[in-house]
Amino acid sequence: MRFWFQPVLRFFTPRSRLWYWFYRQLDAAFRPFDDLRLQIVDFLHLIPPARFRTGGQSAITEYAYSAGVIAAYIGEHLATPDPQVLDLGCGTGKMVSAVWPFLGKNGHYTGFDIDEKAIAFARSWYPKDRCSFLHARLYNAHYNPDGEALATYEWPVAAASIDLAVAFSLFTHLNMPDSKRYFEELARVLKPNALALLTFFLVDDRYNPAEHVGTRWHFDRTIEGQPDWYWASWFKIPERQIGVSPAGINYLMSDTFELIKVHRGWWTGQPGAFLQDTLVFRRKPS
Ligand SMILES: C[S@@+](CC[C@H](N)C(=O)[O-])C[C@H]1O[C@@H](n2cnc3c(N)ncnc32)[C@H](O)[C@@H]1O
Repeated sequence: MRFWFQPVLRFFTPRSRLWYWFYRQLDAAFRPFDDLRLQIVDFLHLIPPARFRTGGQSAITEYAYSAGVIAAYIGEHLATPDPQVLDLGCGTGKMVSAVWPFLGKNGHYTGFDIDEKAIAFARSWYPKDRCSFLHARLYNAHYNPDGEALATYEWPVAAASIDLAVAFSLFTHLNMPDSKRYFEELARVLKPNALALLTFFLVDDRYNPAEHVGTRWHFDRTIEGQPDWYWASWFKIPERQIGVSPAGINYLMSDTFELIKVHRGWWTGQPGAFLQDTLVFRRKPS
């Protein structure tokens, strides 16, 4: 449904500060009433206020939709009751809502991110008995250019302690060495047969660069020295948006993981339920 005043709103570009300030006031006024209308998915009251809805979706409908799609993917693959869940690049915790229906009585969600403010917010917002958040000052050319290299970094997570790892829109911002390091860490922290649901822009034979010229999806070059890691020179640095070829995925998996499912995303213009491609990996027993 479109409202008569929407053409007027277009005068404020949705990206302008004034517009966004206005949107936040509306959101703050609307949420308490909307929360009262929640009837069957009551944990959606965990969705943060507009200012803290990050990760590319600030409209509450889009945010809730994404969490719902991911929840469906998790439900398709996860069989472990009361799982220990690790969310990499958790931002302000969008995946809490996706994971919540699976936590049972004794499961636990741990989010990890290099964004100090996002982690500070998440620590203050979500129930502390079910969710905890870890922060590290690591380098990412886009998100934290002053951070430290993650070359030998170990997550503060015990070995073989995690049943499910998720990373939404993280590997789409990591270059080859950082991705490889994180797969080594995944191999360390996941229990045998545990799952990892990770999103990528999979640059495979389904993707035709010629169809995307002039759009943000035009992965027109590879990162220097990383022939399976693509970026769009439309952006100034690769870490704004990175795609990986199937050969790159095989390199990351080595012989420690098996790829059990690819949920295609719609970013290539083909049918899909989520924007990015969601790859489901199983950690092989060693
Ligand atoms: C596009 S946001 C996605 C946030 C969240 N997963 C979501 O879907 O809303 C990417 C996140 O990855 C984080 N990030 C970038 N590099 C990272 C790294 N090396 N380790 C952990 N988090 C990282 C950023 O700080 C940011 O919060």
